[in-house]
Amino acid sequence: MRAVVTGAAGFIGSHLVEALVAAGHEVLAVDAPERNPAPAAVAENRAALARAGVPLTECDLVTDDLAGIADADVVLHLAGRPGVRGSWGTGEADTLRDNVTATERLLTACAAARPRVILASSSSVYGETSRPSVEGDGLDPRSPYARSKAEAERLAREAAAHGLPVVVLRYFSVYGPRQRPDMAFHRFIEAALNGSPAPLYGDGGQRRSFTFVGDVVDATIRAARTPLPPGTVLNVGHPVSTGLHDALERIGALLGTAAPTVPKDAAPGDVARTWAGPGRTAELLGWTARTGLDDGLAGQIAWHRERARV
Ligand SMILES: NC(=O)c1ccc[n+]([C@@H]2O[C@H](COP(=O)([O-])OP(=O)(O)OC[C@H]3O[C@@H](n4cnc5c(N)ncnc54)[C@H](O)[C@@H]3O)[C@@H](O)[C@H]2O)c1
Repeated sequence: MRAVVTGAAGFIGSHLVEALVAAGHEVLAVDAPERNPAPAAVAENRAALARAGVPLTECDLVTDDLAGIADADVVLHLAGRPGVRGSWGTGEADTLRDNVTATERLLTACAAARPRVILASSSSVYGETSRPSVEGDGLDPRSPYARSKAEAERLAREAAAHGLPVVVLRYFSVYGPRQRPDMAFHRFIEAALNGSPAPLYGDGGQRRSFTFVGDVVDATIRAARTPLPPGTVLNVGHPVSTGLHDALERIGALLGTAAPTVPKDAAPGDVARTWAGPGRTAELLGWTARTGLDDGLAGQIAWHRERARV
């Protein structure tokens, strides 16, 4: 399979490239590294791409010519500006630019050649929930980030109606080696290792379907290889929704030392709970998240320890 991965210098995108190459696929890895607010993370992700023997093709999906991007069997569109907290205030323009305008241009560029397109969306489009969210649920986006993903999904539906074979994957809180430095587990593990407190937003009672990056990559590749009706939407999330305090305790137990935290106000739009209903993804892709939280955290901790040694 010839695959284009956008957002390849990012956390999930770089893992996806590694897995595609390992499975023998031909990969064009695309990113605009200056759009990633974490240059140190970009350097680590780029090093992983280099180890996999894949050069990074620099291309800003908002400003550059995308004529060549559809020349593939599948375009896996992971590029974007993630994160609820950073999408408020001055972050909103960047969020709309990189999640909506970029997606609109990418879908337009794919309209004629019609490669299969996989769009990375987010559980945040669901809003609050007290039961597992299923793909047919109404959307209730509560932040500029969530709204930008809902709008990207709408663009995908529109493209699907015009015959583009596009599939939407709603990722739920992804973690594992090379997790973005703004994300909770990354901050907690670093705090436990170096003793400087990590911010704990809200009361720590938030619950999330934390999903290991290897499982997310597996689901994404299955979606790329499976002929699905255009416009199909699938949850990619672990069926267990775990409390942040519980996760903090597990991190402390795995490291043998508690992560120091400092309380911060809850971020607006940061919902109390996400919870993945995995039924449709199991049915259509034969996928459910396999990695339990302790195993996944152990994998992420090993990576933090390794980079601390370098
Ligand atoms: N990490 C999660 O828990 C999570 C959860 C739900 C959805 N997602 C979605 O998955 C995707 C990947 O997330 P991630 O955590 O790997 O993020 P990331 O920030 O590590 O990677 C995103 C990459 O996209 C690139 N990018 C941004 N704007 C671009 C543009 N205009 N042109 C080209 N490249 C551009 C950035 O430079 C960055 O390297 C995102 O779309 C995100 O919204 C992530």
